[in-house]
Amino acid sequence: MELIRSVAEMAALGRKWRAENLRVGLVPTMGYLHEGHLALAQRAVGENDLTVLSIFVNPIQFGPSEDLAVYPRDLDGDLAKAGAVGVNYAFVPEAEDMYPQGFGTSMDVAGVTETLCGASRKGHFQGVCVVLTKLFNLVQPANAYFGQKDGQQLAVVRKLVKDLNIPVHIAGVPIVREADGLAKSSRNVYLDAECREQALVLNQSLQLAKRLFDEGERDASLIKAAVQAHIETAPLAQIEYVEMVDAVTMQPVRRPEGQVMLAVAVRFKGTRLIDNVLLG
Ligand code: PAF
Repeated sequence: MELIRSVAEMAALGRKWRAENLRVGLVPTMGYLHEGHLALAQRAVGENDLTVLSIFVNPIQFGPSEDLAVYPRDLDGDLAKAGAVGVNYAFVPEAEDMYPQGFGTSMDVAGVTETLCGASRKGHFQGVCVVLTKLFNLVQPANAYFGQKDGQQLAVVRKLVKDLNIPVHIAGVPIVREADGLAKSSRNVYLDAECREQALVLNQSLQLAKRLFDEGERDASLIKAAVQAHIETAPLAQIEYVEMVDAVTMQPVRRPEGQVMLAVAVRFKGTRLIDNVLLG
């Protein structure tokens, strides 16, 4: 696997691959790779002529009180893991190279960014959209891979590339979970033993929602109340939201039609975890 550190070098390779008609897969990440990321990388490796995995802790998608400074990092470990699953190039730029002095563009994908995480993490999706647009322009991938774990991010990226006619196919990859059901996340390292144990209520509550839905329940408020009540059995859980939204528009629904996403965001002693399940 080859390491690319400079934006100019990445742009030159992207142009070369496009001229050679190569099908390129892109896996954008912030590093500290876990099995969830590796599932994206494996899919990309299987479906493309070559795969680029980017590792960039994107400063502009973090709010002032968020965990940018302490976000977990392990570049050597990441490179070994990515190489082992067949990734061809790791693109690891510096923030100053991605956002040089005078950088001034912001982006706003209206509607889809206004609910769920977008409501509490102001500016987050704007930062995600800017960095992804830059990555798409640099790498020129045919396919880009995102986890369903960040279900709203997936919906935002789909809307971004549709609205701006960016010629990349967005592939969503199912959530990868620990054996006990906790969704894999780089932020799980922040959980102490007590929080780690109590965090199991997230997946349990989503399974409860799925059971109710599969049994025919279509009153969103009733399903959400059951999810909330189960999460509240964990004394350390501080709920930020329990919401049922349309899977494409991310707008809340009262009675699910088509595909919907039941999504939760919960803090355990300050560590914010998100999880979701697709219904219908
Ligand atoms: O999901 C992430 O890790 C990030 O939001 C992404 C897509 C790499 C953009 O920085």
